[in-house]
Amino acid sequence: MIDTVIHDASEIVVGPAEDRSRLKQHEDGAIAVVDGTIAAVGPNDAVTREYPPENAAHAIDASEKAIIPGFVDSHTHALFAGDRSDEFEAKLSGATYQEILAEGGGILRTVRATREATDQELLDQLLGYLDVMLAHGTTTVEVKSGYGLDTETELRMLSILDRADREHSVDVVPTFMGAHAVPPAYDSDEYTEIVIDEQLPAVVDQDVAEFCDVFCEADVFSVEQSRQILEAGTEHGLQPKVHAEEFVHFGGAQLAAELEAMSADHLLHADSSDINALDEAGVAPVLLPGTAFSLGAEYADARVFLEQGVSVALASDFNPNCHSPSMQFAVALGCIGMEMTPAEAIMAATHGGARALDRDTGTLEQGAPADLSLIDAPSHVHIPYTFGVNNVEAVMKGGEIVY
Ligand code: NIG
Ligand code: FE
Repeated sequence: MIDTVIHDASEIVVGPAEDRSRLKQHEDGAIAVVDGTIAAVGPNDAVTREYPPENAAHAIDASEKAIIPGFVDSHTHALFAGDRSDEFEAKLSGATYQEILAEGGGILRTVRATREATDQELLDQLLGYLDVMLAHGTTTVEVKSGYGLDTETELRMLSILDRADREHSVDVVPTFMGAHAVPPAYDSDEYTEIVIDEQLPAVVDQDVAEFCDVFCEADVFSVEQSRQILEAGTEHGLQPKVHAEEFVHFGGAQLAAELEAMSADHLLHADSSDINALDEAGVAPVLLPGTAFSLGAEYADARVFLEQGVSVALASDFNPNCHSPSMQFAVALGCIGMEMTPAEAIMAATHGGARALDRDTGTLEQGAPADLSLIDAPSHVHIPYTFGVNNVEAVMKGGEIVY
């Protein structure tokens, strides 16, 4: 039984070509979907001969349209309560992110609002954001805890992520990030101990989180504290991720390499020895241009990674400080702000994201999950070219049209 045939697409982006710098794509292509996975992808004639659209339960005419893999957004903080639009205004008038955090705003303010919100309020808000993400072509998203900073709220956040994953067609990948900030009642050594001795065992007991992340940054968690937390996470079976080199060059990238972390994220201040170390250790670099854009900061130097043949991921970093859940916007910023080619940016937002989350999605190779978007334009180039609008017309997740 053929579930769906998408035929006559003006372009199908399959994934990275063998040399990784270019796309593997088919012009005038077709895709056959059977049992939720890609049964065939290739030139229209060849695929439709083997899988005739008239024999399929669903046939989709994709004339003048492009098909791309669903976006894999590998770094977000999408579960939160409260409103920080006034901080956005203050930053426009010159306040810095760190000043706002040091005065108890920023992450700490979202923590207060999140602790006060009910589970249902948090879940409903997250499901609303997942709807927006899906409508913009995201089929898998990582979401971090870290707006609880106490055991009870961190556990609540992770169980809400688990519920959202089950209730929504977007796959939600949960990361424990108790080490997102130091709550005011503690010094950072005391709080590090609480994360390791109290939060981590409880999180593992609840058995929801997959990764453990730390904000390794000046005045937040030191390299040594981050190492202790991530090593403890690894002992408990949580793979490490690191917020590294965001505001200053601090050592988080070398730590990620040393621990063979799943990913090192932000990397605005990474230098070439960091990039080599990450590459040698097989750590996925995750670049978050929306954050730099919203902070008015310089972008991470994507070209240095790419010229060295290092694949990167692009993610939204959707959070109260970077309030865009759109991966199309991240792709546009990757191109316009970071000088990535549209092909590189699309690969980074799909295949790159999947690598940073250890998932087999993010490509349309035969056998991959049928997670894809139908673009209301003839090529992937239109996604960054026509920025600021939604270019996604329909989304398929696991073979089902879900948007
Ligand atoms: O990745 N840098 C730390 N964490 C988030 C920001 C979270 C917030 O400001 O609420 C980030 O940008
Ligand atoms: Fe983050």
